Amino acid sequence: MSSLLTPYDLSGLALPNRIAMAPMTRARAPHHGEATALMAQYYAQRASAGLLISEATNVSPHSAAFELAPGLVTDTQVQAWKPVTDAVHAKHGRLFAQLWHSGRVSSMALLDGNQPLSPSGLNDDLEQLQVWGQLQNGYYTKIHATPSRAMTTDEVIQAIAEYRRAAVNALAAGFDGVEIHAANGYLLHQFLSSTTNTRDDRFGGSLANRARFLAEVIKAVGEVMPLAKVGVRVSPYAGYNNVRDADPDGTYAYVARMLDEAGIAYLHAADTNGWSGQPDLPRMIETLRPAFKGTLMLNGSITPSAADRLIATGDADLVAFGRAYIANPDLVERIAGNVELAAPRPVGWYGGDNVGYVDYPPHGAPAGEPVRTDALSS
Ligand SMILES: Cc1cc2nc3c(=O)[nH]c(=O)nc-3n(C[C@H](O)[C@H](O)[C@H](O)COP(=O)(O)O)c2cc1C
Repeated sequence: MSSLLTPYDLSGLALPNRIAMAPMTRARAPHHGEATALMAQYYAQRASAGLLISEATNVSPHSAAFELAPGLVTDTQVQAWKPVTDAVHAKHGRLFAQLWHSGRVSSMALLDGNQPLSPSGLNDDLEQLQVWGQLQNGYYTKIHATPSRAMTTDEVIQAIAEYRRAAVNALAAGFDGVEIHAANGYLLHQFLSSTTNTRDDRFGGSLANRARFLAEVIKAVGEVMPLAKVGVRVSPYAGYNNVRDADPDGTYAYVARMLDEAGIAYLHAADTNGWSGQPDLPRMIETLRPAFKGTLMLNGSITPSAADRLIATGDADLVAFGRAYIANPDLVERIAGNVELAAPRPVGWYGGDNVGYVDYPPHGAPAGEPVRTDALSS
């Protein structure tokens, strides 16, 4: 039996297997960032995962990288998530909310005319930032990032309070925990990286100062829920959103030690460059494993057989799958049955309706409605 199918105790939360669904933005919350019945269906279809991690969910009105992403800011957004968490729990699943502040990766077009916020107002690389929106004809397309401005110290403190409030909201919405998104070039990652953070207050300069925003977010979230319910996602070597760090090994050994001491539920390390054919997984394990003694979740272009080896050797405790979960709602059962995985079609990854979202049948089931392949892409 694959070691992926062995149960795991995640700081008191019993997981039936070591398989997590990686957070994936699907951009299907068209009304003020409120989750929908379609989203409930999507997550419930995948509830046999040991742990489901939600799509990145905005914690602030200043956060908007992908139009139509959901939020956990307003009361109506909290209410809208409840049927989603209920649907997952009805299928005996577990769902963490990924808490997201996009920082400089945004556009005035998505922020009602406001300027995106960032650590230091670095704006020489806007074309490299992944900001996306949906056209009236339904196509989801990359749009231009607009210049950000450096946050004042008070605004950083305000953002910490927004994470705390979002954590309260996540619990009220019925989530089993939260994953703080400090990866992929978004606000927390921007503070960690020496190129995007050139501040001279207590949130910039030394490595300890650059990590302070994350440390204070963890502390604030820890005031409203046990840290046994809090994961953190990092992507130490990611080139995504051009968040270059001059010394990622040093930065992330420090961050991993800091998170280890904090006693979070898990550290989720995403090999974001693996997608573009430059895997950093061995280097990531080498940097993080000695520094972080708790639960380590790995992700990024990992096949089920490679995942099995990572668990068996102890390099990982959990493995998250992203794209495999787009097309295989029953990924756990397919791995258990040694069934070939379906490939995701290039349709409906972001934005749109049920097509490319909830229309992938479990193995052996008759396909539902005929599949349209002409609609949304990316
Ligand atoms: C459609 C799509 C949306 C994604 N959205 C997010 C997201 O919201 N938050 C995040 O941390 N990563 C996001 N990612 C990255 C995935 O979590 C994962 O790191 C990536 O797909 C690599 O894993 P894989 O090789 O198993 O697909 C997204 C990936 C895809 C394909």
